[in-house]
Parts: sequence; structure tokens; C-alpha cells
Amino acid sequence: MDLNSFYKDKVVLITGASSGIGEDLALFLAPMGARLVLVARRQEKLEEVAESCRAAGSKVLALTADVADQSQMEGVKNAVIEAFDRIDVVVANAGIGLADFAQRMRLDQHRQTIEVNVIGLANTLIPFVDKMMEQRSGALVGLSSLAGYRGMSGSASYCASKSAAWVFMESIRLDLKSYGIKACTIHPGFIKTPMTDKNRFKMPFLMDVREASVIIARAIAKGRPVTAFPWQMKLFLGFMKRLPTTLYDFLMLKVFPVPLKLQPKD
Ligand SMILES: NC(=O)c1ccc[n+]([C@@H]2O[C@H](COP(=O)([O-])OP(=O)(O)OC[C@H]3O[C@@H](n4cnc5c(N)ncnc54)[C@H](OP(=O)(O)O)[C@@H]3O)[C@@H](O)[C@H]2O)c1
Repeated sequence: MDLNSFYKDKVVLITGASSGIGEDLALFLAPMGARLVLVARRQEKLEEVAESCRAAGSKVLALTADVADQSQMEGVKNAVIEAFDRIDVVVANAGIGLADFAQRMRLDQHRQTIEVNVIGLANTLIPFVDKMMEQRSGALVGLSSLAGYRGMSGSASYCASKSAAWVFMESIRLDLKSYGIKACTIHPGFIKTPMTDKNRFKMPFLMDVREASVIIARAIAKGRPVTAFPWQMKLFLGFMKRLPTTLYDFLMLKVFPVPLKLQPKD
């Protein structure tokens, strides 16, 4: 698959484009001549990415919006249609990684995680369904995670949000298939970005963000329904996913023992 000819002149919207995977995917697609719509909340950071993409030869629309806000995302859709009168790829990438143990979980953070990672994903993708139906083409892309395969301790909110994103994507894939619209789910393992830079544990098979961008760009171009990587993590968590519950609990708690004396947060 020649990525350059696939992405040339395609209108590609990416949320969470001010950092990490979203930023790098934009920078990867820009020299191919994709017309980019970049969305995030931090205007200054977003403009920096937009400028780099323009310098690489891409036409860029940079829009500040909160994906959790339905009316702001309707506004994003209207701005895209006004600017380009079409949409080829929408990547619902914006996400947050707030997670903690049940013993000290903060429900406001749980709500925020669901609002961004689940509601935000729908707020990003669904407004474009009408236009894609009219075009009878397009790809809706959702960033889930290998963490959505099963519950992991210390990550209930994040795992739940990514699991919901995954099943949501699967349902819309079925809804839209006969209309010529692709729905692609992406399950990364650990990718080196500001999100994972905060982790204080050793992350197995940590992948460089550019490697991840190449895999994601290819998956979209091929219209692959589900893409999980790196392969070692995909294999390991694919195996864990199939284990009976008692064995899963036993192995997970051996590898990731829950600290004793967890205190509730202030
Ligand atoms: N890195 C990994 O190992 C990994 C693994 C599996 C899945 N993922 C998923 O991949 C996606 C990108 O992660 P990343 O590692 O690139 O994270 P990141 O570096 O922290 O970037 C997150 C991006 O999302 C944006 N964002 C957050 N909340 C937003 C909101 N309410 N509205 C609009 N934009 C928002 C942030 O921009 P602003 O703050 O400017 O809004 C930022 O651009 C996430 O969905 C994440 O869950 C990552």
C-alpha cells in the first residue's frame, strides 16, 4: 500500500493533535499532502504542531475544542465541512490516562475519564456519519488500547473506558459497513508519549511513537477493522484475555501485586 498516494489530498481530522500519538501522526501525514484538521484544547501547543505540518507542505485547519463537549465538536464538524466540504478520515485519538486503585479512586476523575475517552470519542466520530454517508466513503478511527482487553488492577477507569471504546467501535463498524464507511479500532500497547512519560514502572515493549504512527496510518489506509501492537504485547494480552477468571486473577496478582495499606486520596 502506497501511503503517499492514499493520503494525498485526503481530509484527515485528528483529535489530541497537540501531543503524543496525535501530534506525531499529523507530522507523519503532513509531507504526504494530507489536508489536516487538528483538534485539542491547548491552543499554543496545537498551533506549533500546525505550523510544523504547514512547513511540511500540508494545508492545516487548527481548531481548539474539548472533545467531551458535544456542541464544541458539532462546531468542529461545521468548520471542517465549511472549509473542505468533505471528510475522509476522522481519528478519535484524544484521551486521558487517569487511573487508580479502587481503595483511593476519585469518582470525579472516573467521570472525566469516561467523558473524554468514551463520550469524547462518540462526539468526535458521530457528527461526520451523515457526510460520509452522502459521500459513501470515509474512515472513522477510534483509539482504544490493549488495556481495554481485560480489567487491570489500579486502572479500572482507564480499562473500562478503553473497553467501552472498543465495543462502541465494533458496533458502529457493523452499522456502517454497507454504506462504504470503515470503522477502525486501534489497540496500542505502551507507546512513548507524554502520557506514558509519567509512568514510574518499567513498561514492557515500549514503542517509539513514530513506529506507532506508521502502523496506525497503514491500518487506516487498508481499512483494517482492528489493529493491535506491538505484536509481543498483543500476543501476551490476547492470551491473558482468553484465560479463565481464576487463573487470570492469580497470574495478574502475582505479576502486579496490589500494594498493601493503600490510603484514600485527599
Ligand atoms: N501512549 C500509550 O502508551 C497509549 C497506549 C494505548 C492507548 N493510548 C491512547 O492513545 C491516545 C493518545 O495518547 P497519547 O499517549 O498520545 O497521550 P498524550 O500525549 O497525553 O496526548 C493526549 C492528547 O489528547 C488531548 N486531549 C486530552 N483531553 C482532551 C479533551 N478533553 N479534548 C480535546 N483533546 C484532549 C491532549 O491535548 P490537550 O491537552 O491540548 O487538549 C493531547 O493532545 C489516547 O486515547 C490514549 O488513551 C495511548
